[in-house]
Amino acid sequence: MLKIDHLNASYGKLQILHDIHLSIKEGERVGIFGHNGAGKTSLLKCCVGELKAVSGSVRWQGELVNTSRVELNVRRGIGFVPQGHNVFKELSVAQNLSIAGLMHDPAHVSEVYQLFPILKERQDQRAGALSGGQQQMLALGMAMMGKPKLLLLDEPTTGLAPIIVRDMFEAINLSSQARGTTLLIVEQNVQVTLDHVDRAIVVKQGRVIFDDSSDQLREQKSLWHLF
Ligand SMILES: Nc1ncnc2c1ncn2[C@@H]1O[C@H](COP(=O)(O)OP(=O)(O)OP(=O)(O)O)[C@@H](O)[C@H]1O
Ligand SMILES: [Mg+2]
Repeated sequence: MLKIDHLNASYGKLQILHDIHLSIKEGERVGIFGHNGAGKTSLLKCCVGELKAVSGSVRWQGELVNTSRVELNVRRGIGFVPQGHNVFKELSVAQNLSIAGLMHDPAHVSEVYQLFPILKERQDQRAGALSGGQQQMLALGMAMMGKPKLLLLDEPTTGLAPIIVRDMFEAINLSSQARGTTLLIVEQNVQVTLDHVDRAIVVKQGRVIFDDSSDQLREQKSLWHLF
């Protein structure tokens, strides 16, 4: 379980997250929505230890993650795919996946290739020569190499063609179902995300102002101006 209690976080003097409380069960798939600057990325960063809390706590399976180093949290099974493509552009696709799998099982690469056949086709190509969408698939594939139990995805589908967005969500769901992965997905593609998550959270100015099922958010049209 991911448990966030009384979480307050700042950049310097500027407080960004205000008294966040969340309990997310293992295997739950959660969409996080909100305007630009609402604090969505900051919330994910707190869950992997990249942004330290001023007060409050984030626990994953009972262990404090917010006060720990990112590398330790990754070893504990937390995978983070940051906003924007994050691949080693000068290395090949296969080398990127192999680096991501160093601490884990290199054989797992075949599973990633099964999810994203295009990466197998281009395995010897320089990652920087992939299209933006293909680089996003590679970044996700790299996170999956660590077989995360908690996967934090920051706008994994931004800029992708609608048909690829669906493929991406199907790949995410296939992999998470097989392993019971808990998913936290920040997204601007709200409608399609709601089709693929169980629960929706809306953040406004660093506060959670909606936390309910994805069906509830779909019905509450009065909230749609918030994302
Ligand atoms: N490294 C940083 N230093 C200072 N302020 C920051 C930093 N990163 C983000 N902020 C500020 O924190 C607030 C929340 O930013 P955050 O990136 O969490 O928003 P977001 O909801 O992810 O937005 P977007 O949808 O644009 O990605 C913003 O006001 C932003 O300017
Ligand atoms: Mg963001």
